[in-house]
Amino acid sequence: MNTIRQNNRVLSGMRPTGLLHLGHYHGVLKNWIELQHSYECFYFVADWHALTTHYEDPSIIAESSRDMVIDWLAAGVNPGSSTLFVQSRIPEHAELFTLLSMVTPLGWLERVPSYKDQQEKIKDRDLATYGFLGYPLLQSADILMYKAGFVPVGEDQVAHVELTREVARRFNHFYGREAEFESKVNAAIRKMGKKNAKLYQNARKRYQEQGDTDALSIGHALLASQQNISLSDRDRLLGYLDGQGRIILPEPQSLLTVSSKMPGIDGQKMSKSYNNTITLREEPDSVTRKIKTMPTDPARIRRNDPGDPAKCPVWGFHQVYTGEATRVELSKGCKTASIGCVDCKQYVIDSVLQELRPIQQRMREYMNDLSSVDAIINEGCEAARDVAQDTMEEVRKVMGLSGRK
Ligand code: TRP
Ligand code: SF4
Repeated sequence: MNTIRQNNRVLSGMRPTGLLHLGHYHGVLKNWIELQHSYECFYFVADWHALTTHYEDPSIIAESSRDMVIDWLAAGVNPGSSTLFVQSRIPEHAELFTLLSMVTPLGWLERVPSYKDQQEKIKDRDLATYGFLGYPLLQSADILMYKAGFVPVGEDQVAHVELTREVARRFNHFYGREAEFESKVNAAIRKMGKKNAKLYQNARKRYQEQGDTDALSIGHALLASQQNISLSDRDRLLGYLDGQGRIILPEPQSLLTVSSKMPGIDGQKMSKSYNNTITLREEPDSVTRKIKTMPTDPARIRRNDPGDPAKCPVWGFHQVYTGEATRVELSKGCKTASIGCVDCKQYVIDSVLQELRPIQQRMREYMNDLSSVDAIINEGCEAARDVAQDTMEEVRKVMGLSGRK
């Protein structure tokens, strides 16, 4: 992997199709929050993606967009270090989607596994639309727009990042070979000064003729230290150094999120469509009631009947929330009927409430101060749009669309 070309940027989006729940928190948000320490993060509301499936009744999208950002903030996404924005407010995404569609073979989209899977799974909506077929390509446009090096995704989205890599490769293949590449490279080399130019040429020669990867690293370090060459010249020099040509849209890598073990209150995966969620906004009373009424091991009919945690949906919660030592005791207690389900569940209730308390406190603060939420979103959109405009300028130019003066 050519790390100097992989920028340190993370991009990820979430569809605003309802309230966030504990599954989102443990499966996605905690990871987003963690990534803020090591990457420049861009997180966005994928409202166009939500429309691909919810086009008949978009009211849920309007309702959830701002709420979703509030929940991100309350959970710990930091607007001081991450850029938060809304997809539809950066119309460049639609433009890049259109331009990428020109080079994307139809078969690539038809073969993305989620295309057929979802059509078969979601029977109550007609997903035989052009928009739904294009879903992964719109996602590619989101990613490539920011030249993101890394995309945190769950397993179901890995194929979309893979498609993105293929589309980027094809794009660079067609458009990365600019006219007069060599003469532009030579001009850029001259800007480095005699001594550095010589070091660069030597490194390139050693790498290309002898496959000397140390020489490649030396070349990379040299380019990284150059203050007075432009970004596009730097890209050219990188491409000339390793022989790949100029990479306009870099290929991203997936950062696979270990899939969350968070079950729903019925033991299946927590998901709105199964109606088994505890939302981040759930009132404490409701949290308590939902957990109290959870089914347990069906063999434990009476308090004295021994049970088996492996057959109990509540156990999935313990695996997320309860420390190892207590878990060992609870498991023993369940198997010997020395602990009742009511007491066993109380641990889970206490942990969930404790987790939600500070999040809901911050949520209330943001909801009482919607103008700062809107300001955060506005600022994020502006920052994102700056990046998007730069990318589009380059993309238009190489695709013969630099007509605007
Ligand atoms: N398809 C993603 C999901 O359903 C949401 C998404 C849209 C996304 N664009 C993206 C995720 C770009 C990562 C990068 O979860
Ligand atoms: Fe489930 Fe706990 Fe009851 Fe055992 S004691 S059946 S683990 S709720």
